[in-house]
Amino acid sequence: MVELRNVKKRYKDRTVLDIPALLIRDGESVALAGANGSGKTTLLRILARVLVADSGSLTAPHDVLYLPQRPYAFRGTVLDNVLIGIKNRRNQALELLEQLDLSTLAAKSAQSLSGGELQKLALCRVLIRPCALLLLDEPTAALDTKGTQLVCDAVARYKAQTNCTVVFSTHTPQLAAKAAERLILLRDGQIESDGSIRDASQAPGTEWPKHISGKPAE
Ligand SMILES: Nc1ncnc2c1ncn2[C@@H]1O[C@H](COP(=O)(O)OP(=O)(O)OP(=O)(O)O)[C@@H](O)[C@H]1O
Ligand SMILES: [Mg+2]
Repeated sequence: MVELRNVKKRYKDRTVLDIPALLIRDGESVALAGANGSGKTTLLRILARVLVADSGSLTAPHDVLYLPQRPYAFRGTVLDNVLIGIKNRRNQALELLEQLDLSTLAAKSAQSLSGGELQKLALCRVLIRPCALLLLDEPTAALDTKGTQLVCDAVARYKAQTNCTVVFSTHTPQLAAKAAERLILLRDGQIESDGSIRDASQAPGTEWPKHISGKPAE
């Protein structure tokens, strides 16, 4: 379970996150939407415990994996990057690269990847480990339609294997509809709307679900 109570984050005199209460049940898939600067990354970083709120309480598993919004690569090959800190899992790493359509690049320097390839590699580096809470910050921001589908499939497979809770941010309604059962819209650091994504899943289109009153900026 993830629970936030009266969580606030300020930078100087500006409050960028103010969440009186938020509860996410074990095994839920939650999409975070909202305009640029609305607080999605701040919330994910607090859940990941890489950022500490100024006040309030957080209950969340410590067994967390967090994919930052800006993907990065370490020195070495693509395969080396997936296996960082991991022993004896070469086959699993190759399988993940295959799932994300990166296997032909396995022996290439990770520094030479395109933006989309790098984003998929960063996800492989996360998905090779099990966790209880998976936090993904705009995991498909740099990806084309095919890449987005591959990421959706890989995350779904991972979730089925681990039974983890997933929280991800996105500006793409179709991704939210495909990969989440619940959609939370942030506006100016506050939860503007929080509800089932069922409407959107039944008629996936280019619009955010009707119960979401504001339309996030693209
Ligand atoms: N270290 C910081 N110092 C000052 N302000 C910050 C800092 N980090 C974030 N902010 C501000 O907090 C607000 C929320 O930022 P956040 O990164 O959470 O937004 P976001 O919803 O993830 O946006 P995006 O869609 O662009 O990724 C923004 O106005 C941002 O400028
Ligand atoms: Mg962000």
